[in-house]
Amino acid sequence: MKKDLTEMINEIKRMKHEKNAVIVAHNYQIDEVQELADVVGDSFTLSRYCASTNADIVVFCGVHFMAESAKILSPEKTVLLPEIDAGCPMADMITAEALIEEKKKYPNAAVVCYINTSAAVKAECDICCTSSNAVRVIQSIPNDEILFAPDQNLGSFIAKQVPNKKIHLWEGYCITHHRVSREDVEKAKSIHPDALVLAHPECRQEVMEMADFVGSTAQIIDYAKNSNHSKFLIATEMGILHKLRKDNPNKTFYLLTQGLICPNMKKTTVESVYNALKYNRYEINLDKEVIERARRSLEAMLAI
Ligand code: 13P
Ligand code: SF4
Repeated sequence: MKKDLTEMINEIKRMKHEKNAVIVAHNYQIDEVQELADVVGDSFTLSRYCASTNADIVVFCGVHFMAESAKILSPEKTVLLPEIDAGCPMADMITAEALIEEKKKYPNAAVVCYINTSAAVKAECDICCTSSNAVRVIQSIPNDEILFAPDQNLGSFIAKQVPNKKIHLWEGYCITHHRVSREDVEKAKSIHPDALVLAHPECRQEVMEMADFVGSTAQIIDYAKNSNHSKFLIATEMGILHKLRKDNPNKTFYLLTQGLICPNMKKTTVESVYNALKYNRYEINLDKEVIERARRSLEAMLAI
C-alpha cells in the first residue's frame, strides 16, 4: 500500500538517522523537499557543506552536476540523486571533448568552468566557480585571458566587472533564465512600480542591467532579508520563493514571469527522497581519474 506523506516523512527521518545520512537541497527544490532537508542553499553553500560533512550518505536534492560535485568532493561517501534524470540543459551544452578543442584556440587562457558542468568538463578546467564567487575567482587568476564556460550570461556579467581581462565566452545558457526579456521586466515593473528587481546572473545582460541587485540564489535571499524595501520582483527560479516568504513574512515577493520554472529541479519529491534512502538510489559513480582531476578545480575554488 502507498504510504501517505506524514508516514514517508517519518520514515525518512528514521532512515536518515539509521544510515547516518544527510539530505541537502538546492534553493529551487519544491517546498516540501526544502522542508525535509538538513541544509538548503545555493551551489556554493552545498558544495562547501558536502566537502565537510561527516555523514556516510548524502542525498542530493538538486540536479545531476550538483550530485557529481558532492561525489568529487567526498569520493568516500555514497552520494544519491533521488531522480536520476534530473539534469541541467545548460551543463549539457558543453562536453569535455568540445572544451579540449576550444582550449587549443586560446593557449594562454586560464579555463574557468561554472559549477553547472559535468565532472568530465570540470576535469578539463583550471578552476571552477559558482554564481556567488565568479567575480572573485576570475580576479584571483593571474592570466589576462580567460576561457569561461558554459554560461554566456554569467560570463558577460563577470566581464563587465573585471574589464582588465579578456574573457572568451562559451555560448551556453540556462533555458529557464535566458527566456526572461527586457519586455518582461518592463511589464512587471509597470504592474509593481515600487518593487525592487532581484536577478540571477544566468539572466540575459539586458535583464541584469535593469535589476536593482544581481546575485546567486543565496545572495538574493540575504539581500531581501537585509533590505528596508518591502516589495520585490524575483528574476530567478520560483523555488526560491519558499525561503524568501518564510524568512520575510511581512515582505511581498512576485515572480517576475510565470516562466521562471526549472522542470529538472521540480522532479524530486518527498517520495523520491524516501525511495532514495530506502533503496540507496540513484548512486553517483565516477571514474577515479576524473574525480582526481575535477577535484583540483573544485578545491581551487573552495580555497578562495
Ligand atoms: P546558485 O544557487 O549557485 O545561485 O545557482 C543556481 C543554479 O544555477 C542552479 O541551476
Ligand atoms: Fe540548469 Fe537553469 Fe535548471 Fe539551473 S535553473 S538547473 S542552470 S536549467
